[in-house]
Amino acid sequence: MSGVFHKICAEDDIAENGDRAVTLEGTDILICRTREGVFAVENKCTHQLQKLEGGKIRGCFIFCPLHGQRFNLKDGSPIGKLTDVPLKTFPVKCEEGAVWVSPEPRGGQD
Ligand code: FES
Repeated sequence: MSGVFHKICAEDDIAENGDRAVTLEGTDILICRTREGVFAVENKCTHQLQKLEGGKIRGCFIFCPLHGQRFNLKDGSPIGKLTDVPLKTFPVKCEEGAVWVSPEPRGGQD
């Protein structure tokens, strides 16, 4: 586990309610920009493993493009009946006009 932040892109490169998929140290991560800030989650739905990129983002939630499961981008928690398993979330910081993400999951998730 490195905990090192990787520079991803300029903050302006991700539109509000938009996303950017990256792979950091072998982990697929989706970076989402919302009105409430920028968040990073595992780019894999915990229902049937669909990639979440392109899923509708509303408020601080993302909807899986396949069956519509909703997840809270702040803590990864699912809202809905399809899965009880949260998404992993990753630390994000916005500095010097850029988005930085660590591939080490938050909260002791592995
Ligand atoms: S795969 Fe995401 S809701 Fe079914």
